[in-house]
Amino acid sequence: MNVTNFPRIEWLACYRTVLAAAGRDELDYPPVAGLPALCDALAGYLGRVRGVRGSAETVMVTAGFAQGLSLLCEALPKLGIRKLAIEDPGHNGQRRFIEECGMHSVPVRVDREGVDVAHLAATGARAVLVTPAHQYPTGVTMSAQRRRALIRWAQDVDGLIIEDDYDGEFWFDRRSRPSALQGMAPDQVVYAGTASKTLVPGLRLGWLVIPPHLAAMLSRIRSRHDLGSDGITQCAFAELITSGMLDRHLRRVRSRYRSRREAFTQAVELHLPQARVTGSSAGLHAYLQLPPDINESALVEAALARSVLVHGGSRYQFAPGERPPALVVGYSTLPLAGISESMYAIRDAVDEQRAARGRSLSAPPTRSRAKGRADARICAV
Ligand SMILES: Cc1ncc(COP(=O)(O)O)c(C=O)c1O
Repeated sequence: MNVTNFPRIEWLACYRTVLAAAGRDELDYPPVAGLPALCDALAGYLGRVRGVRGSAETVMVTAGFAQGLSLLCEALPKLGIRKLAIEDPGHNGQRRFIEECGMHSVPVRVDREGVDVAHLAATGARAVLVTPAHQYPTGVTMSAQRRRALIRWAQDVDGLIIEDDYDGEFWFDRRSRPSALQGMAPDQVVYAGTASKTLVPGLRLGWLVIPPHLAAMLSRIRSRHDLGSDGITQCAFAELITSGMLDRHLRRVRSRYRSRREAFTQAVELHLPQARVTGSSAGLHAYLQLPPDINESALVEAALARSVLVHGGSRYQFAPGERPPALVVGYSTLPLAGISESMYAIRDAVDEQRAARGRSLSAPPTRSRAKGRADARICAV
């Protein structure tokens, strides 16, 4: 994520406005689930942009999704749930986090339609953490059929779906953007959003929209951890939403990220035509499936030696090596020109790897060989 896109001027204007007007309610301890002004603003905003169904009373403002997930990991055992199914491949940091929170994480296969619901049902888990809009890291969007099957599964097992909508605001695909899964089943789905990609991770600002029957329990759990999120930050964020500044900021950065995504796709077509960008065009990263003969870990190392930082797909898998070699590439921080340079450097590393094996299967070079520019860095997400 590119922190230089943070709308400092707008944030400062909102902060000034709310600080000048702040009275006792804003300066005193906030309600543990969030100030009504922000919960209201979020309920309206999420309904409008993501099709989330919920009132202010079902919103909880958190310190990012991380806190939301930790609260949920504490709530699940109270519902008799000790296993949390997670996507494989998925976010390896979240997997560790869930285990450290005392839950048992169970991997569930992801295919071209999203999480495999038959596999999920076979695990015996009654809760699952999914990224339906833009699967992390493969970029797959969950199909309509899978969405229905997943909700049916949750109803059948009296379970819970946690929907991590971490980059739902950045959609560049020509197909229409999928609404949040939560809108189909607000009693079965906890919707989780974050300002980490839309603004910056440093704000530590996230939110849950909780099934109404769980709202009181989550507030009780939360009140044992802290006494709510910083009130002035909540007011400033509410102001950013209601003033329309957040929408304008998102329009601006969406167009920047879209052009980087396009430049990345073009660079792949030009330099690595045998590789395939999977999933929907959305978010701040791409999953690049490599030809099967490529040694993924050697390529990651060779790319780094050319100043290009990417992660191998196996880093995101429970059992590394079960999927074709891949790279996970973050393109949001690169200048446009650097994207092609970086892909060229990766192609150079691929050619070197193949030449070392005594054969070169890649398309003939399109220009003379050159090392990637030292400042050309694709960043891993
Ligand atoms: C899959 C996924 N979920 C959620 C988050 C956000 O977590 P947090 O809100 O705690 O910063 C990230 C990172 O930005 C992520 O990659």
